[in-house]
Amino acid sequence: KLKIVTIGGGSSYTPEIIEGFIQRYEEMPISEIWLVDVEAGREKLEIVGNLAKRMVEAAGIDCQVHLTLNRREALKDADFVTTQLRVGQLDARIKDERIPLSHGLIGQETNGAGGLAKALRTIPVILDICRDMEELCPDAWLINFTNPSGIVTEAVLKHSKIKCIGLCNLSQSMQRMVAEILGVDKSRFLLQLIGLNHFLYGTHVYMDGKDVMPDVLRNLKYDSVHKPKNIPDIPWLQEQIQHLGVIPCPYHQYYYATSDVLEKQLHEFEEHGTRGEVVQAVEHELFELYRNPQLHEKPKQLEQRGGAYYSEAACELISAIYNDKNLLMTVNVRNNGAIRSLPDNVAIETTCVIGRYGAIPLNNDPLPATVSGLVSLMKSWEEMAVEAAVTGDYGAALQALTLNPLVPSGKVAKVVLDELLEAHREYLPQF
Ligand code: G6P
Ligand code: MN
Repeated sequence: KLKIVTIGGGSSYTPEIIEGFIQRYEEMPISEIWLVDVEAGREKLEIVGNLAKRMVEAAGIDCQVHLTLNRREALKDADFVTTQLRVGQLDARIKDERIPLSHGLIGQETNGAGGLAKALRTIPVILDICRDMEELCPDAWLINFTNPSGIVTEAVLKHSKIKCIGLCNLSQSMQRMVAEILGVDKSRFLLQLIGLNHFLYGTHVYMDGKDVMPDVLRNLKYDSVHKPKNIPDIPWLQEQIQHLGVIPCPYHQYYYATSDVLEKQLHEFEEHGTRGEVVQAVEHELFELYRNPQLHEKPKQLEQRGGAYYSEAACELISAIYNDKNLLMTVNVRNNGAIRSLPDNVAIETTCVIGRYGAIPLNNDPLPATVSGLVSLMKSWEEMAVEAAVTGDYGAALQALTLNPLVPSGKVAKVVLDELLEAHREYLPQF
């Protein structure tokens, strides 16, 4: 018996993970999938859950799909729990994007002030799930996809006993981008990655016994087809990227080309609203498709979302643990010295060996001076975000924004924070 619980099961991404489980049924014969959501997600859960049932039935596998609003019933004796929930749904995301933008700051759901607000809403809910797990399935693995994934994972590592690994699709998309640059299959090379979630660097590309990093950097793309759809195409400043010596991730544009990204965001905002508003329209279209009783596979249109390859990451990870594969994957784990300049107990994202024991980070060179300082700064703001989310300490929240490179310190930080706290009041019981 193998029982998987997906919290936030009413998400439009659910057909991705269901497809991944179906494709891996031989190596990982899941007997029960429980899709869990909250009252506000009831209708979506119903629609996407019924599609999941049709997909499983069409695949002819012996697996039961359950839909429920009762999280505790679902968690009982689970083996793996995946979290893909969004506290306050897309309406809350849109506020995270709009409020900073209205003060001339980048408005994004995981970076800058929006990322803080999302962490403050999400961490109490995730820790609540952990408390239920400690009681109902203490040996289960928590595979967290909920953003900001690295910060949320750190909260779990610091404040619960549950075994947790944090995931993001970015490493998969970076690997595909490198394969595209080198013109080879991704099985031909090893891309070693290290950093933080959405602040990830490729440090080595080993192919045929050599590190081919210089070739990759020379041909680096900013507009790869594999780049997640939510991140704008902004050209890098070539000389700076060459000098960096490592491969930045697409989210680094927010830091290395801040004013260009902001300009583009303001322009997009005028044309189509924020990304959250664009996604709302995409979701509407997706759910119309999902309603069709004739549909029993993941529709192509889901690729318009930024989370492409997410099921690949989730299902590969679960299978690597379940089958004790000793497979290399890039995930969010406890640092434990992998980045020497950071404390041991924080979450980092890096290439790890994965098996029944969990995720063991590969050894790494010390971070180069070009990235080390920024990584430390980013980790400090993330640590403050975790502290603020857990304690409800206003000073910690303001400290987080003061440290964040995308938010000017002082009055602006305070005004933006106050507006965010007010806008999300119903989801912030700790404040
Ligand atoms: C990327 C990120 C995910 C994020 C997604 C947003 O893939 O890695 O963490 O959730 O983009 O995509 P969306 O379509 O919601 O803008
Ligand atoms: Mn991500």
